[in-house]
Amino acid sequence: MKVVVTGSVREEGLSIVREFADLVILPEPINEKDVARELRDADGMLHKMGHLGKPELEGATRLKMIARHGVGLDYLDLPYIKTTGIPVSITNTANSNAVAEACIGLMLTALRNFRQGEAMLKVEKRWARETLMGGEIRGRTIGLIGYGRVGSLVGNLLDAFGANVLVYDINPALAKAAGRTLVSLDELLAKADIISLHLPLTAETKHLFNAQRIAQCKKGVIFVNTARGAIFDTHALVEAVKSGQVRAVATDTFDTEPPAFDSEIFSDPRIMTTPHMSAMTLEAQVAVAVSSANELKRVLVEGLPPTNNVLA
Ligand SMILES: NC(=O)c1ccc[n+]([C@@H]2O[C@H](COP(=O)([O-])OP(=O)(O)OC[C@H]3O[C@@H](n4cnc5c(N)ncnc54)[C@H](O)[C@@H]3O)[C@@H](O)[C@H]2O)c1
Repeated sequence: MKVVVTGSVREEGLSIVREFADLVILPEPINEKDVARELRDADGMLHKMGHLGKPELEGATRLKMIARHGVGLDYLDLPYIKTTGIPVSITNTANSNAVAEACIGLMLTALRNFRQGEAMLKVEKRWARETLMGGEIRGRTIGLIGYGRVGSLVGNLLDAFGANVLVYDINPALAKAAGRTLVSLDELLAKADIISLHLPLTAETKHLFNAQRIAQCKKGVIFVNTARGAIFDTHALVEAVKSGQVRAVATDTFDTEPPAFDSEIFSDPRIMTTPHMSAMTLEAQVAVAVSSANELKRVLVEGLPPTNNVLA
């Protein structure tokens, strides 16, 4: 049996797959032609990085399972994959806690000017803490857009801080069951001091935050984005920071990854950037690797359907 892996996956997961299959590991940056060639005689795929659609899959006549390493599906042409009948699994909650904790860390860093404080000491070699006045999460109105695996954990953490949490979600079942204050997107934009994104990137959510929506927000809003960069129109976001409409941004994700290092997203110190590292904890990376490997084992060895098939 042959399994193709795209990107670097922890050995704790790879060792599970090695027990029943030969592994071909394609390192980043992923070349789609290599993926197409290797998939031609593959039985399974552990997908971490790279586009996956018709060009890569049309010759993959033996492929029976695509196990995503993570939960994002924006690299995948799902309508095409659906026509092939190949199931696609995600790793459910394996990295949600890591992302939720990172989100709080980014939020506090933006609110409290910690980075500027460190730069003041180490780079500017001055001591002027009065210029670094921050704010607290307690008592602030925080809007969560998307209340699924990550958003709900962020909500629980914010409760512990004493925040006033507002939620907007197109499928509000989980938020309703949790007794959350559900609002429309317009109301959330008008009321939130901080907006944190926890929704997927889809055709509908691409550039959801364009110039017009950013203008609808409270002046001085703070954005935290651990979801996907392209939910923002990057140019509109940068302009809104420069104009003072947006006080600060903490983004872990970019419209293209890796971003060009001369991208305007790096042009303003009020925009804090991290390299898509919210799920980069040892705990989460091991859990994601093991979860995706076990999905392959279920389908390829045990003949069972995947536990988390997004195309079911
Ligand atoms: N930075 C990272 O390393 C990292 C890691 C994991 C997940 N993520 C991203 O975090 C996001 C959330 O992940 P999750 O596991 O919580 O997903 P999830 O599917 O559990 O939750 C997403 C929620 O968003 C809602 N939603 C979908 N479209 C919406 C829309 N147009 N408007 C409002 N709500 C909408 C859904 O109803 C759902 O409740 C995803 O974008 C995912 O790719 C990032």
